[in-house]
Amino acid sequence: MTNQESIYYCHPVFRPPSEAYSLLIQATEGCSFRCDFCMSNLRKKFVIREINDIKKDLDIARKQYGPGVRKIFFLDGNAMVMKSSDLLEITKYASEVFPRLERCGVYAHAKDIMKKSDEELRELYEAGLKIAYVGFETGSDKLLEMVRKHTMKDELIAASKKLFKSGITLSATLILGLGGDDPELSKISAIESADLVNKIYPDDETLWYIACLTLMVPPGTELYMKKEKNDFREMSSLDILKELYIFVEHIDFKNNHNANCVFRTNHASNYLPIRGVLDRDKEQILQTIKKGLDDPDMLRPEFYRAL
Ligand SMILES: C[S@@+](CC[C@H](N)C(=O)[O-])C[C@H]1O[C@@H](n2cnc3c(N)ncnc32)[C@H](O)[C@@H]1O
Ligand code: SF4
Repeated sequence: MTNQESIYYCHPVFRPPSEAYSLLIQATEGCSFRCDFCMSNLRKKFVIREINDIKKDLDIARKQYGPGVRKIFFLDGNAMVMKSSDLLEITKYASEVFPRLERCGVYAHAKDIMKKSDEELRELYEAGLKIAYVGFETGSDKLLEMVRKHTMKDELIAASKKLFKSGITLSATLILGLGGDDPELSKISAIESADLVNKIYPDDETLWYIACLTLMVPPGTELYMKKEKNDFREMSSLDILKELYIFVEHIDFKNNHNANCVFRTNHASNYLPIRGVLDRDKEQILQTIKKGLDDPDMLRPEFYRAL
């Protein structure tokens, strides 16, 4: 137990851009996995915090911000790894402390989801855990293995379906350029990623999110070391757009008019910000990518890109 009067954070914290205005609560520190491209574990030892310490932070937040908090994000890289009973307890406690709370969110690795039963996920949803951010990165098993993501396409499909079943909103990310400067691998990644997305879309109007990020190579990561040794070369911005084009081109929800998949490339790592609904806006999205390919001045300059 820690003795504190301010909310505890273990910096740097990891949260999705869309949780920028949420109350951030440190439920875990770092991540229980270690993927080659990710910096969630750099300078951090993986920790699941004591439930009473997390509750104490919620109490402090209530004193600091009052009862009006509407969104909470449980840090850090994969808070879904917590025991279901513990995650349930802090989610329920958050709703008691903040009566106007609309949702709690977490990052979740596919394996964390698979380890939970359908009943546990449903209970978490009912208690207030409304959104999980899952890193797909790619649908290519070869590439998932190469970057040591500790999951495979089939597991990503199964985990997504489990989330849909529970009611918890799926917000998934893919990484463009993950395989580096290798046109064949890039094409495989784009086609397999589209196939992964095509295999999970729910048949009803469920709202879900797919976002593409573009690979950054942060110092300290395994990938950075490979790059230093010239074993990894990053893709050019135009090749990244080509990969994105192939991905979108292969999205096919079989004319399902209910499909409600919000697609975004507005993350700061990307060269070209796009927003649309899949697969309804597919043609429009492809046109925008073509414009970017024809006019590279439209692209975000390298120095403005960030994670
Ligand atoms: C902090 S991670 C948490 C995701 C969750 N732990 C999982 O693995 O499913 C959030 C996401 O940021 C993206 N990301 C992490 N490192 C990145 C990098 N170096 N370049 C681009 N995107 C990156 C990945 O899509 C990753 O899934
Ligand atoms: S991508 Fe997710 S699972 Fe992999 S190290 Fe980063 S936070 Fe952990």
